[in-house]
This record gives sequence, structure tokens and C-alpha cells, in this order.
Amino acid sequence: MPDEQIHNAEAGKHHEIEMNSKYLTSHERVNELTSEFTKVLEEVLDKDAAEIVQLSEIGLYQWLRDRMFTASTRALMGDELLKDYPAFCVDFFNFDSDFLSFFFQLPKAMMGDAFPRRDRIFDNLERWSKRMHELSGGTPVDPEGPAWEPIFGSRLNRARQLDYKQRKLTTRTGAALDLGITFGLSSNVIPATGWMLMHLLDPRADPAVLAQVMKELREAETSDGSLDIALLVSQPLLQSLWTETLRLYTDVLVTRNLSEDLLLPLDEDGKRMVTLHKGDNVFAPSWLGHHDAKAWSSPGKPADSEFYAERFVAKDSKTGKLSFSMSGTAGKFFPFGGGKTICPGRLFAKQEGLGALAMVLLRFEFDVIGFVDAKKRDSEEFPGYARAFAGSGAVVPGGDLKVKVSRRQMR
Ligand code: HEM
Repeated sequence: MPDEQIHNAEAGKHHEIEMNSKYLTSHERVNELTSEFTKVLEEVLDKDAAEIVQLSEIGLYQWLRDRMFTASTRALMGDELLKDYPAFCVDFFNFDSDFLSFFFQLPKAMMGDAFPRRDRIFDNLERWSKRMHELSGGTPVDPEGPAWEPIFGSRLNRARQLDYKQRKLTTRTGAALDLGITFGLSSNVIPATGWMLMHLLDPRADPAVLAQVMKELREAETSDGSLDIALLVSQPLLQSLWTETLRLYTDVLVTRNLSEDLLLPLDEDGKRMVTLHKGDNVFAPSWLGHHDAKAWSSPGKPADSEFYAERFVAKDSKTGKLSFSMSGTAGKFFPFGGGKTICPGRLFAKQEGLGALAMVLLRFEFDVIGFVDAKKRDSEEFPGYARAFAGSGAVVPGGDLKVKVSRRQMR
């Protein structure tokens, strides 16, 4: 953005915080977004079902990624964007893998088509927004009106589009911020859901875990086939699965610029201190806490480097009842950052991730044919991390599971 636009955007940052608390973090609004997300995903999966069951194999993550992107983009931005710009999904995920290279200012020559691709995304988003304003008669439908409408979608997106004008942001800057919110929306929760699904279906994993997950999913299915989201996201094993996935696979660099000097203890008893100065940039990498052997490798639990879906499940010794517990991990786990700018999408992310997992597993059965690596070559290994800069957010799978899909008979 040009300097003057950065100034306008920063001066109105408090508007964003207000909009997020009004339209993204409140319980009721999260439920509205989830209900739109699950509605579209259901439509997409039902449309798909007839076709994918005919195929001898599909790439599981690749398939899930594109379906979830469609559903979350339509839930947030309305129906027209993907009609207008069907290649958004492909462009977006390529942009996502280039993302940190822009911050680290790699020479343009080393960045392939990252710059023209980003320009193309801006061009498309700018054209879309102008056309949607025309279709809406000049101004988006009031965010206090319907929860969702087809042109600009959710309350949050309508509020954001109105706010761009109020903050004197150009349509080009608006397009950049629309790409920003798409990044927030899709770049972490989709890979996280992919990892959950791949681990559950891994032929080498304990089948009892998938059986217990299916039990919890069925309990959250209502008689009309829809999901009781509140029950779904409070099921003990599902919560543990989500938390373990974020622990092992998010790699965020929580970044702050110090507004005053800060004296920071380097050890528990405060004998060694370091002074950080006003104006310094401070990076808190989640990777260190999330992989701290002392915090995660308690007796009887697999090492911190291993995926262990039940890591946060406690069992009552008398009743056998399962519960979710994160005791003993304070300060070691912060996939959503913290403080004033803690991720405002964290509640929606959990509902979206577990909602998508439920919809996929309750509809389909998957026979795993094998693994492929990042270059789609057959492999003996469960997918590892894709190559990325440290701090890229949720780590993308560097490979996939080849699966044969069939409709689940008993729902
Ligand atoms: C697993 C999923 C997600 C993870 C791991 C994640 C992680 C993060 C992190 C680490 C931050 C920076 C927080 C800080 O500076 O303290 C952030 C900010 C943000 N996230 Fe998320 N996020 C996820 C999902 C979402 C979703 C679904 C949305 C929905 C739109 C979203 C929207 C945002 C926004 C708008 C910000 C900027 C907040 C601000 O600067 O005030 N995120 N996220």
C-alpha cells in the first residue's frame, strides 16, 4: 500500500478491533458464520458425492482444501466472488506459500510469479468489490440487517466494506485487506483440518481413536442430520484432537513492537534478566513452547514430537468418563497469539475445523491406498511438513493420502 494508505489504515485500526468483536468473536455471530459455512459445505459435498465415489483415488488433503476454501469464502464474502474469480482458490494457496517471502523481502528474481500473482489477486478482488457495490445500489446491505446475503455475504464483510470508505481507503487497499482477511480465514484452519483427518485415517494409527471420534461425532448429529455444534466442539476427544493438531502443526511468530523498555526474566527464579528496548521488535515463536519436551512428555504420554490425539483427554478412574484437560501447559501453548490482538477468528476456527471434519467423516468412508510426497510421488511415509519459512502459521502438509472414497452406509 502507498504510505498515505498505510497511515489511514493504521489510524483506523481500532475500527477493526470493534468490528471483530461485534461480528466475529461474539457467540451468536460465530454461530451464524458456522451455520453458513456448514450449509455451503453440505451443498458442495453433496454435489461432489456422486462424482468422487466413481474415481479410483483422490488426494485427500487436496480435495478437502478446495472444498473448505469454497465454503468458508462463500460464508464470509458471499456467492459472487468465486463465480467472478473461480481461480481464487489456486491463486490464494500459491500466495499463501509465498507469504513470508514478501516480509523477508527476498529479491524479486527469487520469487517466481509471486508478484504478478499477488497483483492478479488484487485486480480480481478490486473488480469484484466494485461490481458488488453496484449490485448493492452503491452501498452494502446494513451489517445489522440479515446475517448473510448473496452479494457481500456475512455481516463482518459488509461492515468491513463500509469501514474501508470511512477510513478513506481506496478500492485497491480494500482489495489488499480482503486478501488479508481471506488469509486469516483460510491459511491456518484448512491445513489444521487436513492434519486431523489424515491422522485419523492413517492406516498405522490406533483404530480405537477413529472409533471413539465417530462415536462423539454421531452423538453431535441431530435427528434431522444437522450438527449440534455446541455439543460437537465440547466433546472431549474432539477437543483434544483439535488442540493436539494446533500444538504440533502451528508455527506462529507472535510479533510485537515495544512501546516501552521491558525487563524480561530469562529463567524461572528471575536471576538472569534481559532488557529489551522501546521500539524493538520482539518475536515469540510458538514452536519452542509447543515442542517443549518438559511440558508435553509426561510419563505415559508419547514424546512431544509425536501426534497423540488423546494427549488432552483425562479419564475419571471411577466412572470412566472422559474429559478434556490442558492442565500443566500454561504459557506453552499459544497458536492464536495473545493479548489485545489475539486471533479474533479462534472460536470460528474451531467450529469450522471440527464441523468440516464431522461432515466429511459422517458422509464418507475412506480406504487409504498409500501416501504421496510433496511432488506427488508414491511414498512409504506419512506426510511430513511442507517446506516453509519458520513462523508461517499452520504448517501445510508436504504430501497427501491417496484414498478411495465411498458413501458411508450407516449415518
Ligand atoms: C487454526 C486457525 C487459526 C490460527 C492458528 C490463527 C492464528 C492467528 C495468530 C497467531 C494471529 C496473531 C495474533 C497476535 O498477534 O497475538 C491471528 C490474527 C488474526 N486472525 Fe487468526 N488464526 C486462525 C484462524 C482464523 C480465522 C478462521 C479467522 C477468521 C476470519 C482469523 C482472523 C484473524 C484476524 C482478522 C487476525 C488479526 C487480528 C488483529 O490484528 O487485530 N483467524 N490469527
